[in-house]
Amino acid sequence: MGSPARSTVGQMPCLRGYQQRTSKYPPPRRDVPDKPNQEQKQPIFGQEALRFYATCHPGLEQVTAQELASKHVGAFDIRPGKSGVHFRGSSIAVGVLVHVAEGPLDGRRSGGDEIYRFFRACADWPTILGPGQAMSVEARVRNCSDIPSALLLQARARDAICDAIRDTRRPRPAPPEPGQEADLPLYVTAWQDYLTVYRDMSGQSLHRRGYRSVMHRASLNEAAAAGCLLLAGWPEAALTGATLADPMCGSGTFLIEAALMATNTAPGLFRKQFPFQGWHDFDPQAYSKVCQQAKQAQRPWEGKLLGSDIHPGALSLASRDAEGAGVAHLVRLHEGTCGGWEPQQRPDIVITNPPWGNRLMALEYDAPNQLSALEAAWTELGLFLKAHCRESQAFVLSGNRDATQWLRMRADARMPLVIGGADCRFIKYTVLPPKRASEAAPSASAAVL
Ligand SMILES: C[S@@+](CC[C@H](N)C(=O)[O-])C[C@H]1O[C@@H](n2cnc3c(N)ncnc32)[C@H](O)[C@@H]1O
Repeated sequence: MGSPARSTVGQMPCLRGYQQRTSKYPPPRRDVPDKPNQEQKQPIFGQEALRFYATCHPGLEQVTAQELASKHVGAFDIRPGKSGVHFRGSSIAVGVLVHVAEGPLDGRRSGGDEIYRFFRACADWPTILGPGQAMSVEARVRNCSDIPSALLLQARARDAICDAIRDTRRPRPAPPEPGQEADLPLYVTAWQDYLTVYRDMSGQSLHRRGYRSVMHRASLNEAAAAGCLLLAGWPEAALTGATLADPMCGSGTFLIEAALMATNTAPGLFRKQFPFQGWHDFDPQAYSKVCQQAKQAQRPWEGKLLGSDIHPGALSLASRDAEGAGVAHLVRLHEGTCGGWEPQQRPDIVITNPPWGNRLMALEYDAPNQLSALEAAWTELGLFLKAHCRESQAFVLSGNRDATQWLRMRADARMPLVIGGADCRFIKYTVLPPKRASEAAPSASAAVL
């Protein structure tokens, strides 16, 4: 991955939040020889051999891999997996999992005993976990013959690590205080009797950029928004000074993430602290150098980001968050229905996330009213696109396969995505001038998500 200086927080619009703690665990590495205890002693920075796993929303593996391969990150040995991407390099602050050890469980002992044995031997825990540091273990288990639950895996792993520390006459490590992050968050997977152990560099998911103090209850996950923007080709369009609009912008996640990409601002720049900064192999000088480079890599941008929403509260969050991210000067907001919105110029790209009619709408409407509110919102979106976005490309994130029919538009492509456990489609449309016949009777294909 080149020098550590190149693989900066700033030079990785990527991993811009692709890290998602709730995502599924990575698949087992059957192709990798079982060599526990060999890599964990290397410093995190400046080493070519470290292995990482960048977790992401299912459906965003390919764009995550592309971003890792870009010159901004310069990762190598990149292999998309399920809900994430394996890579090698010395990348820092990318909010990824640093591989510690892996190996098969021996079926001759009970699962609990095997976990304990594996963890006692797999790493130099007294070095990895410094005196007084708190540790947490997050575990995922699937298809194992004698590990009935993630709780068993967590408990036995913790026991083994604590015993390894006590053997050196140090006190048993404590869990983190309530509300505090662990100094060493571990992420462990057990898949078909094969264990893999990682250190989690960012602890809290990287979608928490640090520019947002309050989440609107319908706010889109920042990492998912960034992934959608990549799927829509926004970084390339931004280079040409294109205009992007979100006619149902809510708290402005698409607009802010689009601004960060356009200005080459690394999302990690807003986070004050990462767990890896307290690790034994952390190199503060290398880190400060790459942070500096990330700041220098920011660039001015002349394009426009336009948003509209009917909800004044959501819009004030959008303004505040855009301010917090330092991009308020690039974002223009309008309050009102999108059907009545005339953007100041024709957008080149529209990207939006209309209501899906989920439990949030259920809080405000009873079932029949919910349906008509949903129909009204999607119909207005369709009218807005046809009236003001001719020949633009529109990308609509939908978690409701029936709602798209009200757009009365034919999709060019539907990209599957899983966001917050919801099966979604990121749908691409080319906005054409209205044809009266098709407006009157939407085609069957337009009704399919
Ligand atoms: C799922 S939320 C969008 C969330 C947004 N992407 C964010 O990150 O905060 C849908 C938004 O559509 C807005 N909305 C619903 N009907 C609308 C309409 N007719 N015109 C404009 N906005 C509308 C709602 O107020 C809500 O903020």
